[in-house]
Amino acid sequence: MEVIQDKTALREQLLEWRRHDEHVAIVPTMGNLHAGHVSLVELAREHAERVVVTVFVNPTQFAEGEDFEDYPRTLERDKRRLQRVNTDMIFVPTVETLYPFGLQNATSVTVPGLTENFCGSFRPGHFDGVTTVVARLFALVQPDVAVFGQKDYQQQLVIRRMVEDLGLPINIITAPTVREEDGLAMSSRNAYLSDEERAMAPKIHEVLESAGEALQSGKRNFEELENAASGQLSDTGFEVEYVAIRRALDLSVPNRDCDELVLLVAVRLGKARLIDNIVVTI
Ligand code: PAJ
Repeated sequence: MEVIQDKTALREQLLEWRRHDEHVAIVPTMGNLHAGHVSLVELAREHAERVVVTVFVNPTQFAEGEDFEDYPRTLERDKRRLQRVNTDMIFVPTVETLYPFGLQNATSVTVPGLTENFCGSFRPGHFDGVTTVVARLFALVQPDVAVFGQKDYQQQLVIRRMVEDLGLPINIITAPTVREEDGLAMSSRNAYLSDEERAMAPKIHEVLESAGEALQSGKRNFEELENAASGQLSDTGFEVEYVAIRRALDLSVPNRDCDELVLLVAVRLGKARLIDNIVVTI
């Protein structure tokens, strides 16, 4: 497994693979890898001969006052983890490699339409930072396939839209959310939770599941279900940012006949901001 920092070494390795007609899959991450990330690498492996994992805590996707400085950086542990799952390369670019003209003068990519609501409205500029860095990673690595997690539902939709809109020849794959035994979606930010908060956190998935069951059993008053779920979460002690039932395809407001819905939740709990979702196919 190669650990590569600079563009030249990256290009040489990619050329070598291309000479052998090998396909490349990319798994972009911010490091601090857990079983959720590992599942993405394993899925990538099924779609390409070569798998590149990128590790970069991207400053442009953190708003002022967010956790950019505190975000856990555990590269040595990440390397050991990736070695065990058959990764061909870890690309760990510096800020200068990814943003050669500096953060202020960076060409940026914006995806209008899907980024204004939900996480976009609570994290101003966040999705512009995500699409800007992912477009750069795509340009450098030129993957055939890219794997993202359903855990960040809005993010994978935004990236799919970017790829389609820009006509990039990259197959985007969305991997299911990996959860702890008690249902909590794995996240690097779970480490911010105190023991007491950690004990509360599985409630998010519980609430999603019970709203999902209500939908499956034919309930169609979406607003009532959203309010009930939101109430249960605030009663438990979460500060609710949003609970929303939307069309899975594009996050638009569903009508009664919509047969693929997504239930999205974002809450704050102590120092952590936690998001989760489930897709309900009727
Ligand atoms: P990060 O939070 O490190 O997540 C990297 C990838 O892992 C994302 O596609 C995310 O959806 C996926 N992931 C996280 N938790 C998961 C879980 N419990 N189960 C399955 N997949 C999970 O998302 C980012 O980084 C960044 O925004 C990035 C795309 C790398 C751009 O900087």
